[in-house]
Amino acid sequence: MLFSCLLSINYVAQAADVENLQIGIIGSGKVGSALGKAWLNTGHQVMFSSQHLEDDQQLASTLGSRAHAGTPREAAAYGSVLLIAVPYAALPTLGVELGELINDKIIIDASNPIVSRDGEMAIAAREQGVGLASITFLPKARIVRAFNAIPAAKMAEAASKHEQYAMPIAGDEPQAIRIVSELIRQVGYEPVLVGSLAKMGKYLIPGTPLAGEKSVDELHKIASELK
Ligand SMILES: NC(=O)c1ccc[n+]([C@@H]2O[C@H](COP(=O)([O-])OP(=O)(O)OC[C@H]3O[C@@H](n4cnc5c(N)ncnc54)[C@H](OP(=O)(O)O)[C@@H]3O)[C@@H](O)[C@H]2O)c1
Repeated sequence: MLFSCLLSINYVAQAADVENLQIGIIGSGKVGSALGKAWLNTGHQVMFSSQHLEDDQQLASTLGSRAHAGTPREAAAYGSVLLIAVPYAALPTLGVELGELINDKIIIDASNPIVSRDGEMAIAAREQGVGLASITFLPKARIVRAFNAIPAAKMAEAASKHEQYAMPIAGDEPQAIRIVSELIRQVGYEPVLVGSLAKMGKYLIPGTPLAGEKSVDELHKIASELK
């Protein structure tokens, strides 16, 4: 009894430091705008960015005073946590553009290498394993892959659904995993850490057994059978 009380006090204390964050969104398309709006709804401040500042200003202007717009570098500097949701082929140059601004930053990497869209580099990223490929492009960041194989429209409505699905994540750094996990809970999913970026990151793309909406038990079972 005492143990479970301590556990829940600890959980509340840990969840409390994932409130009123500044979140930088890099790539404010279907995924970036859905998650940015969802985090605004849970009390965070969000800066949207893309290559077209005027689009982000337009988006932010409709979302209240906690929504902001900036360039990708401004969003990277602004956020204590960043969401990167861009076509995967943009990651190599984006990593260079953001440079030292993302050193040690917690980055939620929702971007997927899709061969029909991203070309040859997507083939190479899939062969390497996408977790490792993202580390190559964003080398000093604390990356957690998440939101990779759920449609953006589902992400937008997850918090208002009765049924809660699991969100598979892969990462290496405990504090980043903990904070991203809480941000995932806040938008309506239960995070399930399936493993490291090197070992399990490769499964966090569309079309693998981890893709789609699954219960926590189902996801644990599927993940335990993957190598
Ligand atoms: N759609 C889904 O259901 C879904 C689900 C899970 C994961 N994903 C993955 O998440 C990523 C984003 O998908 P999406 O559907 O949101 O795509 P999207 O609607 O096409 O949005 C992509 C965003 O990235 C921006 N962008 C492109 N190049 C950029 C760069 N160099 N620097 C900064 N911003 C850049 C685009 O704006 P500008 O062109 O104006 O810069 C746009 O705001 C993809 O890798 C996708 O595979 C998608």
